[in-house]
Amino acid sequence: MDKILVLGCAGQIGSELTLELRKIYGDSNVCASDIRQADKDITESGPFEILNVLEANKVAEVVKKHGITQIYHLAAILSGNAEKKPLPSWDINMKGLLDILEMVKELKVKRLFWPSSIAVFGPSTPIKNTPQQCVMDPNTVYGISKLAGERWIAYYRKRYGVDTRSIRYPGLISYKTEAGGGTTDYAVEVYYDAIQKGSYICFLEKDTYLPMMFMPDAIKATIQLMHADADKLTVEDSYNVGGMSFCPDDVFKSIQKEMPNFTMDYEPDFRQAIANSWPQSIDDSIARNDWNLSFEYDLDAMTKVMLAEIKKKFEK
Ligand SMILES: NC(=O)c1ccc[n+]([C@@H]2O[C@H](COP(=O)([O-])OP(=O)(O)OC[C@H]3O[C@@H](n4cnc5c(N)ncnc54)[C@H](O)[C@@H]3O)[C@@H](O)[C@H]2O)c1
Repeated sequence: MDKILVLGCAGQIGSELTLELRKIYGDSNVCASDIRQADKDITESGPFEILNVLEANKVAEVVKKHGITQIYHLAAILSGNAEKKPLPSWDINMKGLLDILEMVKELKVKRLFWPSSIAVFGPSTPIKNTPQQCVMDPNTVYGISKLAGERWIAYYRKRYGVDTRSIRYPGLISYKTEAGGGTTDYAVEVYYDAIQKGSYICFLEKDTYLPMMFMPDAIKATIQLMHADADKLTVEDSYNVGGMSFCPDDVFKSIQKEMPNFTMDYEPDFRQAIANSWPQSIDDSIARNDWNLSFEYDLDAMTKVMLAEIKKKFEK
């Protein structure tokens, strides 16, 4: 039986992925961890440890104590926040990955999932239907750390036989926790403000197209990749995964279908430049071919769920 460790479980992805993994592997077989306290549904449904990924020795102790065979390493500082503190963010994103890679190699942990991002692309990358392999010239500290991270996981895979698996997530949208300081966060905030205030001020321009994915599709894709046969995986660094492509104006129109009085204004900030350097849509045909990537949600289907679930939260 596999034993799983989630690093960074209290964040936007970890808070949902951990519970899904516990359904599959059993509550006691999925140890959750974060540098901060997680929600009660995580700490009370299975093992939880406070862990800093920059303290690899302590992570190694937990790996040995629980007999961990697979790690999901989600701890990171996201694009918007990383621009505010470039060097400390580089340490967490990069040293935090290298130390875990080294530990996984030494302790012979069976498999490591580490997410990359569309932030690996840059201004010279083709912006429409961005291919798996193309020019990558990221100009944010986050994007540089993700691109370097991709090369390192490919290196450990090739040189030491470590079974590393990775997805270049697009912007992820969910209702359970707040977004973690990324450039695509508007697509989460907008639904909260729609329910709480009936209006939203967007920090990106109305026609800024970006690739996006609803969290249930992201969780499904992650688990599918981790379960895929190793010999079917043809990408050594990180798989392109597209989801949908939409702009703030599309979200506005989608919300208006459910809430006709909803209004939206635009006050772009520093994140506009980051968004401008990223692709608008992604070619994920290799992931579809290698491990049957597929999606259930389009924008309108997601909007219905987001509004209904956030409404429920505030009615409690
Ligand atoms: N959310 C997205 O849209 C998105 C898109 C692309 C890639 N990703 C990647 O997915 C991963 C998870 O993203 P998320 O959205 O859940 O981020 P998040 O910011 O919501 O969560 C990250 C978690 O890591 C924890 N953390 C930070 N520093 C830590 C440290 N030193 N030790 C241990 N834990 C630490 C934080 O407390 C937080 O709970 C990250 O690698 C991120 O780069 C996310």
